[in-house]
Amino acid sequence: MKIKIAPSILSADFSKLALELKRVKQAGADLIHVDVMDGHFVPNITIGPVVVKFMRKCTPLALDVHLMIQNPAKFVGAFVNAGSDMITVHIETISLKELQAIAKGLKKSKVKLGISLNPGTPLAKIKPALELVDFVLVMSVNPGFGGQAFIPGAIKKISQLRAIFTKDIAVDGGINAQTAKLVKQAGANVLIAGSYIFGAKNIKQAINSLR
Ligand code: DX5
Ligand code: ZN
Repeated sequence: MKIKIAPSILSADFSKLALELKRVKQAGADLIHVDVMDGHFVPNITIGPVVVKFMRKCTPLALDVHLMIQNPAKFVGAFVNAGSDMITVHIETISLKELQAIAKGLKKSKVKLGISLNPGTPLAKIKPALELVDFVLVMSVNPGFGGQAFIPGAIKKISQLRAIFTKDIAVDGGINAQTAKLVKQAGANVLIAGSYIFGAKNIKQAINSLR
């Protein structure tokens, strides 16, 4: 499968977002990962639809919006209208019934739907959701902050998932050149990285080293 690299904008300099978007595009990024946090599901607050709307104007790359919020069903519409290309919701925050409704709505707008699970959530939890989604996002840190260390338990989860799921598997948290190798071997093909990419002196080299 083609490896796709998604810089997480959380680690960018928010005072020059347009420039940061241009920089990662030039360095070869495939999509832009956008972390939305509400201070309830995770202990941090980041950005909402209004920022996504302006990011949309600044990059031709797909915006991959990761909703780390309670009651995501209530906000999916606003993020679609803001210009999201992909929306990920967490299994810990949603019922299967709500997910079915979201999947149906997104089909019409051609926005791709992903399901994510925290490191502490067993793979079995997302199994009923797999037929509804376009991709799975495996968390390899507890969501809330960039710059955390990779939790190795993600590797087994990815390989078990790869055995039953043929679409995109993304992995998010603590990805660098070393952990990238491990998750690719396990079967992940979308690598999300924040601090490793934006903290690098040479962003292009960092992205290439993940590929
Ligand atoms: C964590 C976020 C991640 C984060 C990754 O809650 O969902 O997307 O920005 O950052 P790094 O790559 O620094 O772990
Ligand atoms: Zn994320």
